[in-house]
Amino acid sequence: MYLQRRNRILRQSAALRSLVAETVLTPADFIAPLFINEGSGYRQEIPSMKGYYRMSIDLTVAEGKELWSMGIRSVLLFVKALDEVKDNTGKEAWNKDGLMQRTIKAIKEAIPEMVVMTDVALDPYSIYGHDGIVENGEIVNDATVEALVKMSISHAEAGADIVAPSDMMDGRIGAIRAGLEQNNFTKTGIMAYSAKYASCFYGPFRDALDSAPGFGDKKTYQMNYANRIEAIKETLMDIEEGADIVMVKPAMAYLDIIREVKNAVEVPVSAYHVSGEYAMIKAAAQMGWVDENKAILESLTSIKRAGADLIATYFAKDAVKLLN
Ligand code: PBG
Repeated sequence: MYLQRRNRILRQSAALRSLVAETVLTPADFIAPLFINEGSGYRQEIPSMKGYYRMSIDLTVAEGKELWSMGIRSVLLFVKALDEVKDNTGKEAWNKDGLMQRTIKAIKEAIPEMVVMTDVALDPYSIYGHDGIVENGEIVNDATVEALVKMSISHAEAGADIVAPSDMMDGRIGAIRAGLEQNNFTKTGIMAYSAKYASCFYGPFRDALDSAPGFGDKKTYQMNYANRIEAIKETLMDIEEGADIVMVKPAMAYLDIIREVKNAVEVPVSAYHVSGEYAMIKAAAQMGWVDENKAILESLTSIKRAGADLIATYFAKDAVKLLN
């Protein structure tokens, strides 16, 4: 058979395949989410996230050092607040001595170069498990934004490099930017969860933080997964309001959105490979139904190929080990 073009030529050996690979993962692509618990020497596996742990500050710092030594340059902090500090104002979220603030300081002290990102949303502090303040069964926008501004300033004060609002209230990026400017935090970045969908794939995360909504769901603030154009609208608005990095979340079921956002913007795009996506791979691997290591690399490579410059993933450490 005579063929003018044979595409298999470039696939015939591992060396050739690597020479022409369009997408290459590196440790600096990853953001490692960390779940912080009160106490010391505390390390507890999250039942729905096998192999992932909630840790006290001391062990979180040790984990941060290990991540840094592996080439991972960023952590994203989430705290599991004690029940007694939860209310409907979220005021613990800007407590100078709160768990988040103490954690930020401890990490920046031990690993000053680590890019410390912090979750900004009220759900860990809410008696209702909602991302905002609740009035008459509704999650109210503007009062919540005021709380998020205080929370962001408090994280910046503690030393956070980047605040990451994950709440999906309207106008919060602009308000947070103004709050940071007014308080002279001119070096604090904002990574906006811009296209965050109301997704079932957050289930294990809510176990990890004990933050499942006490009533209803999050559909009045998080996006409808049927929508595509709206993701672009949300993202462009966040950039106009001052976002340094924008995010699409979840990742695997939203690769089309990642690509569309990537094509539409001129800021770095991140994607969050969320807890349910982690849990699915873990569960299938445990059953012997998929090869875990291969599933990790294929998933993360596809997220990067779709257009993510940064990937928040619970597989960050595993992926770096596999890449080496
Ligand atoms: C809450 C928040 C959630 C996640 C990050 N921040 C859950 C939610 O919106 O209910 C999910 C992360 C994951 O599932 O890994 N503001």
